[in-house]
Amino acid sequence: MVKKSVTDLKLRGRFISIEGIEGAGKSTAIGVLCAYLESQGRTVVHTREPGGTVVGEAIRGVLLSQDLPAMHADTELLLMFAARAEHLRKVILPALNQGKWVVCDRFTDATYAYQGGGRGIPVSRIGLLEGWVQGEFRPDVTLLLDIDVATGLSRTKKRGAADRFEQETLKFFDQVRLAYLDMAVREPNRFYVIDASGSPEQINTQTIAVMESLIAGF
Ligand code: TMP
Repeated sequence: MVKKSVTDLKLRGRFISIEGIEGAGKSTAIGVLCAYLESQGRTVVHTREPGGTVVGEAIRGVLLSQDLPAMHADTELLLMFAARAEHLRKVILPALNQGKWVVCDRFTDATYAYQGGGRGIPVSRIGLLEGWVQGEFRPDVTLLLDIDVATGLSRTKKRGAADRFEQETLKFFDQVRLAYLDMAVREPNRFYVIDASGSPEQINTQTIAVMESLIAGF
């Protein structure tokens, strides 16, 4: 049902999600991506998950807080989808229906990677919530910035205080990364994997190259 309200509009914008483990360089790539799309005449909404709405940002505060006791993996999963339900209805779908392009820093693939791969929640359970919250709505394109875990985490250490996820183990992030790469293999038409081990310039060049080919196709 969610999908119908979007895809029925011929002039709808596109939904692009950016994924990757901590330290992969999403923020830089997103800046370049948004600037490029705007230079091509697109109106861009840049948003993020968990978050993107007042309620969603409050949920994000709970999810990332180091001051709260540890939460059950199911609680974490449900909070991710609670924030997403709000985000989808209040920000993403309205923007797409106005012809805007939405660039989202993480979306449901992050749930499959972190709560599925990292925490070990069965994919089928995540799929149930995905169907319930999103119907068949999925990103048009997903850029996966791929980097080895040790390099990614060493970059985040320079940023200061770690949030609840950043304190996880190398094994956790290895599983997250593998889950992302597995999704990219299974959905090659949606995923574009960018080698994020290089310099910011190299990542930017790859990001723009992907967008150029996509814009030509849209
Ligand atoms: P960020 O720091 O990249 O904004 O992401 C916040 C954290 O939330 C990051 O560690 C990944 C995590 N996350 C999940 O575990 N599941 C999700 O569905 C999303 C969107 C993010």
